[in-house]
Parts: sequence; C-alpha cells; structure tokens
Amino acid sequence: MIQTIAVIGAGTMGSGIAHIFAQYGFSVHLVDVRPEALEKALLTIRKNADRQLTKGVITPDIQQAIQNNLHSFTSLQEGVRNAQLVVEAATENKQVKLDIFKQLDDCTSPGSILATNTSSISITAIAAATQRPEKVIGMHFMNPVPVMKLVEIINGYSTSKEVTETIVALSKQLEKTPCVVNDYPGFIANRILMPMINEAIYSLYEGIAGVTEIDTIMKQGMAHPMGPLQLADFIGLDVCLNILKILQEGFGNPKYAPCPLLTNMVAAGKLGVKTGEGFYRYTPGTKELVPAR
Ligand code: NAI
Repeated sequence: MIQTIAVIGAGTMGSGIAHIFAQYGFSVHLVDVRPEALEKALLTIRKNADRQLTKGVITPDIQQAIQNNLHSFTSLQEGVRNAQLVVEAATENKQVKLDIFKQLDDCTSPGSILATNTSSISITAIAAATQRPEKVIGMHFMNPVPVMKLVEIINGYSTSKEVTETIVALSKQLEKTPCVVNDYPGFIANRILMPMINEAIYSLYEGIAGVTEIDTIMKQGMAHPMGPLQLADFIGLDVCLNILKILQEGFGNPKYAPCPLLTNMVAAGKLGVKTGEGFYRYTPGTKELVPAR
C-alpha cells in the first residue's frame, strides 16, 4: 500500500506533484539537490494552497494537512528510504535521469515503484538503468498540476500490468483522469501537440498570417483555451524544440523537422514566458497579450 511518496526535483512540476499528493493525504518527501529550490517550492505550495482555500476548493483542515504532509530533503538516499513510490521530476536531461534511476534502484526497497514525469525521454531507456524495469513507469502530469486533470501513464517495454494498475488507481484517488499509452517518442500528448505548434510556427514563418490571427483562429474556431503560439511560449520554446527533435530522430520522419523560425528564436534566447519574450512580450503585472513583432 502506498503511504509515502518521494518526489525528486522541486521545480515547476515537482512542486505541483508534491502539492497534489500532500493534498490527498500522502506523506510526501520532496527532494532537490538545490536547497533554494526546496524553499521556493514550499513557498509556492503554501501560496497555491491559500488560493485553493479562498476559492473553496479545499477546507482549512486540508490546507493544514498539505503543510503537515510535506517534508523536504537534499539527500536522495534519505528522502527515498521509506517511499513505496518515487516520482522523478528532475531536469529534462537523459543522463541526469539515468543517474537518478540508478541511485533509486540502490536506495529504495525492491518492491517500490519508480515513476518518471519526463515529457520526452524513453521510459524503456530509463527503466534499463535499473534492475527492476517491470516496476518503472511514466506518470506524466500536466502543468499546472493542481489544476490539470490529465495524467498520461506510459508503459515502458517491460512495465508490469500490476504496476500500471496501481498507478491508474492512484491517479483516480487524486481525482485525475488517467490515460494509459505505450512508450514511443512523444507518447501521445506531445506527439499530437508539438506538430500542431510546429505547423502554427510554419504558418507564421511563411507569412500566411500573424501571431494574433493564428492564435485567434485556433481559440475561437477550435475552442482551444490558448492559441498554439501562446501555448508554445508557456511551455518554453527550447522545450518545444527539444521534443520536436526527439520526434524527428525517434521516427526518422522529416515531417517532425522543427521550423527554422523556432530554431532561430531559441538561438536568440527568446524562449517565451520564462525569458519575457517569445511570440508575445510578457510584462509583469499585465495579462495583455502583445505580439513581440
Ligand atoms: P525545473 O527545471 O523547473 O525543475 C527541475 C528541478 O530538478 C530543479 O529544481 C533541479 O534543481 C532539480 N534537479 C536536477 N537534478 C537533480 C537531481 N539529481 N536530484 C534532485 N533534483 C534535481 O523543471 P520542470 O519544468 O519542473 O520539469 C521537470 C520534469 O517534468 C522534466 O522531466 C520535464 O520534461 C517534465 N514536465 C515538465 C512540464 C512543464 O510544463 N514544465 C510538463 C510536463 C512534464
């Protein structure tokens, strides 16, 4: 039975994942190599829980439980020792993840499930870094975790049926919607989303329409809550570029080739919301969408 969950990486996703597990009564061990990341994550979780209370999403008891259930660690060994489940949400870098999974395999009890929140790295390759590939699975939450309902669950080549069932049941316990898919480049979410974003960027690059027109067409015409260019800014243009390269290489199909405009913008450091400029310009304190060009 899962009672203690270790979350590795206290960035954007790790803090959201820790929040949701703590909210649903699990004891959460949040681990990061950087103490300042842990400090920031705990502050973010407190602020988000306050907002949930104000909106009536949680009761004062749950708000208190979220704080009580969270424990932070800079040592991976200490953080994962008693965990029945580990969810890794560290930096999206294959070598970083392989090293973490090797350590997890040594430091957790052999029955523990090891999940990764990776958005693009092969689950099968990560599992191969351990002696228990049947217990390794993808548990891909969406950003922002406390709000988004989907959990894309990815079976690696060797993932056992029991492990998949446990993670499906756990996702339902969090009142999320689990969808189980197999491990091929981009899984399902990014395999469909990234070509759409790339096509939107091509449409801009070829001068067929402007930023506002492209996003308005997809928002008003297809009922998307955000246009593809705004969504690309939100995800990070560097992240989009990386995932497209993984699709192109993984399938050996030129249809996934990243648009040269995307490559140029990443080279120019225009990465979207996180750098203050991508397809739009972002000024703190205003929500107005201003195209950068
Ligand atoms: P982030 O950069 O905000 O946070 C990563 C954290 O991992 C950092 O605090 C870093 O100090 C920590 N870290 C690095 N190496 C570590 C190690 N060896 N041990 C412990 N902590 C370590 O990254 P973000 O955006 O939270 O992404 C995390 C994972 O989630 C990635 O695999 C990413 O692909 C995936 N993801 C991201 C989404 C997003 O919208 N940001 C959406 C869905 C998945």
